[in-house]
Amino acid sequence: MEKIRIGIIGVGNCFAGLIQGIEYYRQNPKEQVVGLMHKSLAGYSWDDLEFTCAFDVGKSKVGKPLHDAVYAEPNMVNWVKSLPVSSVIVREAPVSDGVGIWVQNKVDPVVQTKTEAQLKKEIIDEIKSTKTEILVNYLPVGSQKATEFWANVALETGCAFVNCIPVFIASDPVWEKKFASAKLPIIGDDIKAQVGATIVHRTLAKLCDDRGAIISKTYQINVGGNTDFLNMKEQERLASKRISKTESVQSQLTIRLPPDNIYIGPSDFIPFLGNTKLMFMRIEGRMWAGIPFNMEVRLEVDDKANSGGVVVDAVRVAKLALDRKIGGAIIPTSAYFMKHPPLQMSDHDAREKTEEFITGK
Ligand SMILES: NC(=O)c1ccc[n+]([C@@H]2O[C@H](COP(=O)([O-])OP(=O)(O)OC[C@H]3O[C@@H](n4cnc5c(N)ncnc54)[C@H](O)[C@@H]3O)[C@@H](O)[C@H]2O)c1
Repeated sequence: MEKIRIGIIGVGNCFAGLIQGIEYYRQNPKEQVVGLMHKSLAGYSWDDLEFTCAFDVGKSKVGKPLHDAVYAEPNMVNWVKSLPVSSVIVREAPVSDGVGIWVQNKVDPVVQTKTEAQLKKEIIDEIKSTKTEILVNYLPVGSQKATEFWANVALETGCAFVNCIPVFIASDPVWEKKFASAKLPIIGDDIKAQVGATIVHRTLAKLCDDRGAIISKTYQINVGGNTDFLNMKEQERLASKRISKTESVQSQLTIRLPPDNIYIGPSDFIPFLGNTKLMFMRIEGRMWAGIPFNMEVRLEVDDKANSGGVVVDAVRVAKLALDRKIGGAIIPTSAYFMKHPPLQMSDHDAREKTEEFITGK
């Protein structure tokens, strides 16, 4: 199979986890590759991902070769000592609304001397000259305008778009229509980790619902120590993140909970946790004869290991859609891989329909 040519928007911890995970398996060929739907997805291997261009705003990353930029501060992923030399140089992106007040000092954005229009021209030239075919959006939470900029770049360069962040593009009918009209696939929005807070919470909520119990209240609190969590201290940047995470659980219930009885949020930044993410979840409800029950779950994961494999699957499905000239939101795949898809499904149905899509049914 030909390689899948991917452009990266935001060379942060998530991308560091994606590329270092691939390198880890290349260096350890006898290890079982875990965290994927399939080792070979309709012929595309996890090893077929090729990163052909990358964009960021951090002084520590812009202008550097990709294999160095991945290790630049404030990134924290260090799973393989080094990456093979890459000819890709991280190019400057417009800062727009990408850098929040809490991470300003850590990201330390380049002083921008070019207009957005000038940068856009350079970006489009870079994407075209590198024959990039899929853009993966890893911008910080709250980057509404910046994400819209990149969605337009995808449309103008004929790229598929995998939107890993909670800015609604695939799930916004106006944007979705633009991708459908351009016959370009889009998978989004907001990546759903492999065994993360969202999938655990929604699975347990659905279990209670399917078993006939009534959930009366639930919460999910998440803490971590990377720039993603630091950025999320800025409440104004969180509106769509809260909707994305809350809807993902609400959608699994037969009767929606009143807003005051469900709280789901990234809740604090604890510096020494680094990329470790802790989730605390509680479900309260009633059983037969109105007798109450409750459950509590504590989940501890490496936040970046948790999303890498899912993105490997998502880009491979985007590539299949490109090969088959299918445009617009890939509905079941978005429902399976993302927290806020255009259409919520049960994870079981979404997986089955994604399998059907992969086999071309
Ligand atoms: N399990 C997960 O890791 C997970 C799950 C769901 C969603 N996400 C989302 O994925 C995104 C990326 O997460 P991360 O941990 O890599 O964050 P990060 O803070 O490590 O990386 C963000 C990168 O974007 C760069 N950036 C900031 N503004 C920019 C701009 N305008 N243009 C280009 N680059 C810009 C930063 O310099 C940084 O390199 C976040 O929005 C996060 O919420 C992650």
